[in-house]
Amino acid sequence: MKKVGVAILGLGVVGGGTYKILTDNKEFFKKTQGLDVTVETVLEKNVERAVSLGIDKNAVASSIEEVVSNPNVDIVVEVIGGIEPARTFVLKALMSGKTVVTSNKELFAKHWSELEEAAKKMNAGLFFEASCVGGVPIIRTLQDGMQANKILSIKGIINGTTNYILTKMANQGWSYEEALKEAQRLGYAEFNPTADVEGFDATYKLSILSSLAFHTKISVDSVHREGITAITKEDILYGKELGYTLKLLGIGKNTPAGIEVRVHPTFVSNSNPLASVNDSFNAVHLVGDAVGEIMLYGRGAGALPTGSAIVSDVIFAAKHTDYYYTCFKNTDDGVKETKFVSDFTSQYFIRLAVKDAPGVLSKIAGVFAKHNVSIKEVKQVAGIDGKVPVVIITHECPESAVNKALAKIEALETVYSIDSIIRLED
Ligand code: HSE
Repeated sequence: MKKVGVAILGLGVVGGGTYKILTDNKEFFKKTQGLDVTVETVLEKNVERAVSLGIDKNAVASSIEEVVSNPNVDIVVEVIGGIEPARTFVLKALMSGKTVVTSNKELFAKHWSELEEAAKKMNAGLFFEASCVGGVPIIRTLQDGMQANKILSIKGIINGTTNYILTKMANQGWSYEEALKEAQRLGYAEFNPTADVEGFDATYKLSILSSLAFHTKISVDSVHREGITAITKEDILYGKELGYTLKLLGIGKNTPAGIEVRVHPTFVSNSNPLASVNDSFNAVHLVGDAVGEIMLYGRGAGALPTGSAIVSDVIFAAKHTDYYYTCFKNTDDGVKETKFVSDFTSQYFIRLAVKDAPGVLSKIAGVFAKHNVSIKEVKQVAGIDGKVPVVIITHECPESAVNKALAKIEALETVYSIDSIIRLED
């Protein structure tokens, strides 16, 4: 039976989950995969943490050099996160000819080309299923399941923390601050929640996923990013009344005009399958020109779900020796010739506060008409002191047209404020 030696760098939540799956299922993998997988060593400063997981303290390495010079280690699992020291450790492992499995989306999104170059040079494997959408096998689906298709679009709820926050704001009527606090208490959001709530985490994932989907390197900088910090419970409430649910979506589209890649809060109609993906769950919806629509759903984070993706890579790596790398030109900044769309075409949810007086709505409608923006729905809610909230939903139109119209509308004497502009995907 083939013996496979694994090293785990970092025994945090995901490292612990990976160790548990590899050791609990050792006999199962012998039987079902024909592989005898052993965790040979771990790199972890906190030796007590390693011992508490059942690891012999002699198996705890004190340096990356010790790990990569261990002849029993075939595969190095990096679950430290962040750029350094993870980047240096991964490069050292690859340059020693070890195959690397990583869950590190930031490292991968920003340094994929450098890592791939080292892997190619040493004929080592480089696997990253766990970097995107945790336990959901989206990378393997894109690489090994959708090859027959030109992928036309990828839309996903690819950050669990923000999905938890938006779900609680919608279902419990909580404010953003209340929902964030609870997400932090439950361990979904970190003490500094910026990476999740400002959309960076989703941007790293969309950069990786859309590169694979569209066969060209989509750098992190080409992704338009907006987080959820400005979302209010009023937006969610009015959207709900009109039959829409708010999600932070990662959207990639391959259109005749070019590629568009964006992460931002988005209303989806309640009949859209993404609308019923709640709490910290993730889902990715793909449209391929042959298969049509498919959707994958599951847990995007956590010890065992992310460990599941890592272990699937370990097994895949152990069963393949002819490693393949990206077939597109992999450069950190992306390929200059790739055409991107920046004037997104979308429907828009616009919330304004206006004077409650005759002719106000018709004036606003007139400005939209002048800019060729067609109105789909309007909702006016009872206000106080002659000031009323109005929600307008447009048909699909270019963002530039909406912005020009809104600049004129904002200047109208009867318009007090434009409170929200949120894209809507049907
Ligand atoms: N923080 C991420 C999320 C999980 O909330 O989805 C790891 O990418």
